[in-house]
Amino acid sequence: MATSKLAVLALFALLGSVSCQAGGYYDYYYPTPQRPPTPSPAGTHLKVGYYRNKCAAAYVDVEAIVKKHVKATDAGMQAGLVRLFFHDCFVRGCDGSILLDTFSNDTSLTPEKFGVPNFPSLRGFEVIDAAKAEIEAACPGKVSCADIVAFAARDASYFLSAGGISFAMPAGRYDGTVSLASETLPNLPPPFAGFDQLVKMFGDKGLDASDMITLSGAHSIGRSHCSSFTRDRLPPSNTSDMDPAFAATLQAKCRSANAGTDNTVMQDFKSPDVLDNQYYKNVLAHKVLFTSDAALTTNFTSNNLVRAYADFVPYLWQQKFEKAMVKMGGIQLKTADNGEIRKTCRKVNNRT
Ligand code: HEM
Ligand SMILES: *[C@@H]1O[C@H](CO)[C@@H](O)[C@H](O)[C@H]1NC(C)=O
Ligand SMILES: *[C@@H]1O[C@H](CO)[C@@H](O)[C@H](O)[C@H]1NC(C)=O
Ligand SMILES: *[C@@H]1O[C@H](CO)[C@@H](O)[C@H](O)[C@H]1NC(C)=O
Repeated sequence: MATSKLAVLALFALLGSVSCQAGGYYDYYYPTPQRPPTPSPAGTHLKVGYYRNKCAAAYVDVEAIVKKHVKATDAGMQAGLVRLFFHDCFVRGCDGSILLDTFSNDTSLTPEKFGVPNFPSLRGFEVIDAAKAEIEAACPGKVSCADIVAFAARDASYFLSAGGISFAMPAGRYDGTVSLASETLPNLPPPFAGFDQLVKMFGDKGLDASDMITLSGAHSIGRSHCSSFTRDRLPPSNTSDMDPAFAATLQAKCRSANAGTDNTVMQDFKSPDVLDNQYYKNVLAHKVLFTSDAALTTNFTSNNLVRAYADFVPYLWQQKFEKAMVKMGGIQLKTADNGEIRKTCRKVNNRT
């Protein structure tokens, strides 16, 4: 047992960046989740309207600048921005570490954005860059990249829900200086996770089971690469409870004339670009992509919440989603002592 595990690890160490290109979770040995340092209580030092009086020369509406850039992009990028926030917060807390192009101290180490869960699927980076550039020009050195990511996720939720999801996002985060691909798989739940693993991995971040169920509703927007679900969800290895007709549709879409092409499909076949409670109807209809989506019906309490979100109480899910996004935005926050306000979101500031 131990030797075969070691052999697997050694194999992946050898394959390194080569297998990284192939993408997909299933090529990787999945390590046991690490328990991170105790998460900071959600939202500790954050404030709504934090940037209101932060720019010295003149009044600059920082949040409006972010909103403008998010509005200008397409629905796919907006979905990407919602996911970017989740992936930032779950690895080293909400500190913009997902945005760094290098772990500048040691360029031989790959940053988070090239970790298996993020590359090549994660998107929205250019929207953050554009917002940051405009903000820096108007109000240099004051606004963290971590806050821009949080605002952008909030604004993307707003536009994709046609205003149905609308909330204040507290701010005052600081940017981190470390970003490591090796920390992505242990901290980000994989699509083949079952209910208990999902609860555990969200619990490690200070989020409870209902936060997990609520935030999973973000799978009512955006896309997935076929490599993220084919292996455990589609025939011939179908041990899943997926609707057979839906599975057949996915198979057809995932089959490519070009062998080796990792096609994409929409998360929500019904209303792919609308952030709404349709996801929960899809879960109940067995028309969802991931094991982690289908898992929400495998626990009695969870199944009841899914049903409530699907149709029982109008706008219940939207309200809970707003609260859960704010709570997620409070994971393991940095302070002025262990963080910084980056000048460029892709690199840490120069040390003097
Ligand atoms: C519960 C555990 C979760 C798992 C296992 C999971 C897994 C995944 C996977 C595998 C993809 C497809 C990536 C690809 O192949 O292109 C995806 C897409 C997505 N996820 Fe999740 N996710 C989870 C929770 C969340 C949460 C909490 C959010 C945000 C609140 C979120 C937002 C999204 C969005 C918006 C997309 C579409 C991204 C795009 O179109 O670019 N997910 N997720
Ligand atoms: C960067 O490298 C220096 C020298 O090797 C080391 O002392 C420092 O702790 C490193 N910083 C980080 C953030 O790892
Ligand atoms: C596997 O797929 C076949 C063909 O679509 C279907 O008849 C069967 O019920 C599926 N098995 C499971 C366990 O879902
Ligand atoms: C359902 O999940 C909750 C939260 O993890 C847990 O407390 C409860 O025991 C689970 N119920 C069953 C029947 O497993």
